[in-house]
Amino acid sequence: MCRVSDSPEVAAAEFHHAHIRTFKPRRGRVTQKQNAALTNLNGPIITVTDQLLDFADIWPGLDDVVIEIGFGTGTATVAMAMADRTTGLLAIDVHTPGVGELLHRIDEEALTQVRVIEGDAVVVLKQMIPPHSLAGVRLYFPDPWPKARHHKRRIVQPEYAALIATLVRPGGFWHLATDIVDYAEQMIEVLGASPVWAGGPIDRPTYRPVTKYESIALDAGRPITDLLYRRV
Ligand SMILES: C[S@@+](CC[C@H](N)C(=O)[O-])C[C@H]1O[C@@H](n2cnc3c(N)ncnc32)[C@H](O)[C@@H]1O
Repeated sequence: MCRVSDSPEVAAAEFHHAHIRTFKPRRGRVTQKQNAALTNLNGPIITVTDQLLDFADIWPGLDDVVIEIGFGTGTATVAMAMADRTTGLLAIDVHTPGVGELLHRIDEEALTQVRVIEGDAVVVLKQMIPPHSLAGVRLYFPDPWPKARHHKRRIVQPEYAALIATLVRPGGFWHLATDIVDYAEQMIEVLGASPVWAGGPIDRPTYRPVTKYESIALDAGRPITDLLYRRV
């Protein structure tokens, strides 16, 4: 089982593509059911490698594959996958208990179109996703990194907007949501400056369920911004 903190493969991959981490490695208790899902060798988990994924092999007969970066506990991931079983979904996060939780829920709901990677999405995007292969990318409530000196850790940066543009097919989408006002502004600035992304703020779409992190933000009275961009 691949762990972002202790797997030599991931460490090598991260060394190869040295970059500032967009997440703070955190420990968390893995429950028994999460552990059972994490150690199930027949589960829908994909290991981080430096090889491109073969979408036709993983999702035979499905035309659209979407990536979700940073699914947390996967509550929204599961709800969206239950609402649409004909879109292949690759869900990526580094947090082991959340990965175990999502794997468990995928099994419970028989979500055969979902695959999960426990690892750094930046490494996965750089090494494993074929060019122009994605129907879209979901980035819901990325780590906020509120302090100005940490803004460089935010995942929505010109470099990653350009990288994601090489992976999403023309007409494909990038749906972002955040509860941090100056991060929403950063997203608008970064994607607005890119000639290959067109879009901006939208009303919250009904198809996006409230995520776990979002419900905490809503309880605290923070406003939510949804942004939708199309790959030109
Ligand atoms: C603030 S939480 C939001 C989780 C979930 N989307 C929600 O709304 O409840 C951000 C998540 O992104 C994950 N994350 C941050 N950077 C990541 C990266 N480079 N690769 C994979 N996951 C990442 C964190 O581990 C965390 O689970």
